[in-house]
Amino acid sequence: MSYLDKIDKTRLPKHVAIIMDGNGRWAKSLGKDRSYGHMEGVVSVRHVTEAARELGVSYLTIYAFSTENWNRPESEVFDLMDLMMKALERETPDLIKVGVRLEIIGDMDRLPEKVRNRAMKCISETAGGHEMTLVLALSYSSRWEIVEAVKSIARDVKENKLTVQDINEALVSNRLTTRNYPEPDLLIRTGGELRISNFLMWQLSYSELYFTETPWPVFRKEEFYEAIYSFQSRERRYGKTSEQVQN
Ligand code: FPP
Repeated sequence: MSYLDKIDKTRLPKHVAIIMDGNGRWAKSLGKDRSYGHMEGVVSVRHVTEAARELGVSYLTIYAFSTENWNRPESEVFDLMDLMMKALERETPDLIKVGVRLEIIGDMDRLPEKVRNRAMKCISETAGGHEMTLVLALSYSSRWEIVEAVKSIARDVKENKLTVQDINEALVSNRLTTRNYPEPDLLIRTGGELRISNFLMWQLSYSELYFTETPWPVFRKEEFYEAIYSFQSRERRYGKTSEQVQN
């Protein structure tokens, strides 16, 4: 029996965020090089995007490249950029066909011009999609994002557009790159590591966390369904007691 049959379709997470990890180690374990892991990782992105859209998840955010990933060997960064550019080009027609809108969060200024242009093209060509929003975190880190938000608030205070008393949680949330999305209900991390790695640190405050040993290149639809099923067994209390939540 598939986990798909066990999922309660009326209690789906609205927003799922994913840290795709384990590509390199998985490829090495097969005697292949890391870029093979990333190539198969793109196939997983396709399968999981399809699964999320078919189920009715509204937002899927995937951590494709962190600010810290710029420190990887130059050849791996080059391969990853090339892979992303080609994947965006190849997948755009299908994203349009199935109504998935692509958006990007991250420091786009650091991307090579060719990758940035391709990403912008995909964003504008898929802008009419209303079935699901696929958010690629690209050259993204939470600390970068929070620093940018602080700068923008400080500028507004300096220019008397805001007072210090105006600063509250809603205002900070509104200065983040994710201002147009609900906070993730569920974070999935593949590949066995138990950390957040500078990803959506503000937004994950009340998210349910799901860690699996499965490396990203073998994380496909069934593993995604299993994660959703696990999410549905949790009680989200937001600081309240179980009795309060149940009443
Ligand atoms: C982590 O595995 C994965 C990455 C750093 C990159 C993942 C990016 C993709 C699969 C491309 C997605 C692109 C699009 C356009 C959807 P790792 O290399 O850190 O694995 P390791 O922990 O085993 O070394």
